[in-house]
Amino acid sequence: DKAGFKHFMAKEIAEQPTVLADALGAYLEGDTIRLPGQGVDFSRIERLTLVACGTAFYACLTAKYWFEQLARLPVEVDIASEFRYREPPVLPGTTAVFVSQSGETADTLAALRFCKGRADRILSVVNVETSSIARESDLALPIHAGVEIGVASTKAFTCQLNVLLLLAIEAAVARGHMSVQDRATLLTQIRGLPGLFNAALDRDASIEAAAQKISEARDVLFLGRGTMYPLALEGALKLKEISYIHAEAYASGELKHGPIALIDKTVPVIVMAPHDALFDKTVSNMQEVMARGGKVCLITDATGAAEAGEGVWQVITLPEVDSRLAPLLYALPAQLLAYHAAVAKGTDVDQPRNLAKSVTVE
Ligand code: F6R
Repeated sequence: DKAGFKHFMAKEIAEQPTVLADALGAYLEGDTIRLPGQGVDFSRIERLTLVACGTAFYACLTAKYWFEQLARLPVEVDIASEFRYREPPVLPGTTAVFVSQSGETADTLAALRFCKGRADRILSVVNVETSSIARESDLALPIHAGVEIGVASTKAFTCQLNVLLLLAIEAAVARGHMSVQDRATLLTQIRGLPGLFNAALDRDASIEAAAQKISEARDVLFLGRGTMYPLALEGALKLKEISYIHAEAYASGELKHGPIALIDKTVPVIVMAPHDALFDKTVSNMQEVMARGGKVCLITDATGAAEAGEGVWQVITLPEVDSRLAPLLYALPAQLLAYHAAVAKGTDVDQPRNLAKSVTVE
C-alpha cells in the first residue's frame, strides 16, 4: 500500500520522521540507551570490524567517524565481498558488526560466518529480525525501520545510522570519553531529529527543482568531507541506481588528485557541506570547481548558505543540526535528489532495472 504516494520509495522517504521516532522509542529510556539482550560491553572491546554491502556499507563508513571521534575506538570497515575472500586476520579483542537491511545478503552472511570463532563477538544491525544474519549473530540489534519495499534503500539507511550512532555513544561513555551528562544532552538533540526531518521534508520543492536540472546531466559528481564523504557516496549510489545517471563521489580533498579534470559546465557537482568545522575546507574545493565553470549544487544550512551561497548554481538549505547528527539529516536530500531525478527521467523508481531487493547470490 503506497498510502497515496506515487512510489514506495516516496512513501518510505516521507515515513522517516515517524519511523525514526519509533526506533528511538525502542532504544531510549530517559537519559540512557537500552540495548537488547545482554547489550554490549564496550569497555572490553579493543577494535571493531564493520562489514556490509552497498548502502549498508556506507552506513558503516559513516559510523567509523562516530566510533573513532566520539569513543576513540579503532574501526575497520570493509565491503563484504572483499572481506570474505581476503580472509583478513581477526585479532583478539575484535568485535565484528554486520549491517544488513534484509539480513540475507550472501556476501555479508559469508563474511559473518568467516568471523565465527575468530572475532570475540558477532553483532548484527538488521531490519529483518528473523533473518539468517540476525539468527547467526551473538546479538542482533534491530533498526525498526518497518518493511522496506522500494529497491533503493532509504529509511533503512537512516535507521541503520541511528543504531550505529547510539552504539558509538554507548562506546564513548563506556570508554570514558563522554560523560553521562553529555550523553543526556546529545540524546535530547537526537530526540529532536524527527522534527528536523519534517522541516527538511518541507523543503522538498527546492530539492525537486534542483533534481530536475540535474536529471538532464549525463555525469554527476558528489563531494563531501568527514561524515559527508560517505553521504556523498550514498547520494551517488542512489542517483545511479534509480535514475541511471552516471554519478561518482569523492572526498572533497581528493578533487585535485584527479577528478577535477572532469569539471566543465555539463557535469553538475553536488557539494554536501553543513556549516561545521570542515566547512571552509569544502567551500574552497567548491570554489575550485566554480572557477573551472562547474555548476555547483550546494546542500548546506542557513549559515552555510549565507557564507558561501553567492554565485552557486543551486542551493538546498536544510535546518541547522548538531554536526554529529548531520549524516542522518543529510541522507534526506541525497534520497530526494535521486528520487526526483528518476521521476523526471521516467524510470521505474521502485524496480530499477537489473537490481534485486535482496542479493542472496554472490
Ligand atoms: C542501495 C541498496 C543496496 C543494499 C545492499 C545491501 O539502495 O539498497 O546497495 O544496501 O544490497 O543490502 P542489505 O542491507 O539487505 O544487506
